[in-house]
Amino acid sequence: MYQAEEDEHRPTLFIMSTPTLQAVLFAVLASLFVSARCENQSWKGVALFVLGDSINDAGTNNYINTTAGFRANFPPYGETFFRIPTGRFSDGRLIVDFIAEYANLPLIPPYLQMKDDEFMGGANFASGGAGALVGTSEGYVVDLKTQLKQLEQLEKKLRKEMGSEKAKRIIKDGVYLISIGTNDYGMPLSYPALFQSISMEDYVGMVIGNITTVLKGIYEVGGRKFAMIGVGQFGCAPSGRASTRNGSCSVEANNVAKLHNVALTSVLTKLEIQLQGFEYSYFDYYTSGSKRFQYPSKYGFKEGQIACCGSGPYRGNFTCGGQRGVKEYSLCHHPDKYVFFDSGHSSERANRQYAQLMWNGNLSVVGPRNVKAFFKHEGA
Ligand SMILES: *[C@@H]1O[C@H](CO)[C@@H](O)[C@H](O)[C@H]1NC(C)=O
Ligand SMILES: *[C@@H]1O[C@H](CO)[C@@H](O)[C@H](O)[C@H]1NC(C)=O
Ligand SMILES: *[C@@H]1O[C@H](CO)[C@@H](O)[C@H](O)[C@H]1NC(C)=O
Ligand SMILES: *[C@@H]1O[C@H](CO)[C@@H](O)[C@H](O)[C@H]1NC(C)=O
Ligand SMILES: *[C@@H]1O[C@H](CO)[C@@H](O)[C@H](O)[C@H]1NC(C)=O
Repeated sequence: MYQAEEDEHRPTLFIMSTPTLQAVLFAVLASLFVSARCENQSWKGVALFVLGDSINDAGTNNYINTTAGFRANFPPYGETFFRIPTGRFSDGRLIVDFIAEYANLPLIPPYLQMKDDEFMGGANFASGGAGALVGTSEGYVVDLKTQLKQLEQLEKKLRKEMGSEKAKRIIKDGVYLISIGTNDYGMPLSYPALFQSISMEDYVGMVIGNITTVLKGIYEVGGRKFAMIGVGQFGCAPSGRASTRNGSCSVEANNVAKLHNVALTSVLTKLEIQLQGFEYSYFDYYTSGSKRFQYPSKYGFKEGQIACCGSGPYRGNFTCGGQRGVKEYSLCHHPDKYVFFDSGHSSERANRQYAQLMWNGNLSVVGPRNVKAFFKHEGA
């Protein structure tokens, strides 16, 4: 019951890390595109700055001292689009990659990967495993406060290189796309321990308080447009289902996600009143995900509960790629038939759908404005 049909299995042996010709071609084309962009010193337009966790991490953790548990720089990650692992926690592109595409921006590189003079429309500070609390995955990730510090450093560098007027415009017109919170609540299994000393409400308050501090920090740097991804229905992710033993969703995990999202939207509404020029777009990731987990075929998927890659019930164990202590794992043939690529992360196809909703969805999924509105009628 827990396993997908036999023909969905693929022996681990077939997973090779050799870059294909396509990968080489892709790399060449990408570098041509990049150098064309670099020569354009008078870069105009709306930049995209990305902060948060693995939902947004485009390779940050490749550049820090951490363990495989916080990395996705090995096959089969990246197999669908990039053909090589990039550090993204998916078979292909992330929500941020599609948003960049819709905004006519190149792929936004990890800040830690950027070389001098390489500003091409944004920077990605997000780090897989990161939370709003400094204590979350401490020592293994770039936490949200450090991500803010890096944004401050980048702002200084831009001022030095482009002059303060232009840097100020880039920072002010830029969109700050943030996904954070899930890791602060941890894997469902750690729930009872987590809430022994503090109520769920107080804990959520602490997480939201720390997010608020960072949002105000970005505002201080000069940022005005905030695109927030709410916390997903992670109790129904394969990892959540695996934790309940009978395959039902983790009710505690879903409850804390709902509490978090209510508190977050309330803070965003307040900030828009308190801080002059502050604008936000909130994406209801919880509901959008939940519909796909429940009715996968309505959205073009075959499977909404079992992950494409992993082991154990629902492939809910975070073993995809065989580098995290457990070597054995199963991998599906067609990730695009799955909502989940691994135990907790979406497939590229799901990411594309989420990005489309964020970009130009209506008020039922994203509001009070969608992300497209942030990119309209802009430019110096
Ligand atoms: C990386 O971290 C490990 C353990 O946290 C430590 O033993 C090692 O020295 C670190 N390596 C570098 C290059 O900092
Ligand atoms: C931020 O989190 C810390 C725990 O890491 C907590 O002590 C502090 O009160 C929180 N800050 C706010 C403003 O909620
Ligand atoms: C599954 O187990 C959970 C406890 O982990 C329980 O609350 C729930 O009712 C069970 N569901 C079914 C369908 O048996
Ligand atoms: C999955 O993880 C659980 C909890 O760590 C462990 O007990 C179980 O043996 C794992 N299953 C497989 C197939 O690796
Ligand atoms: C929003 O879009 C969905 C699907 O595209 C549609 O079913 C729904 O009626 C729309 N809601 C509003 C408020 O326009």
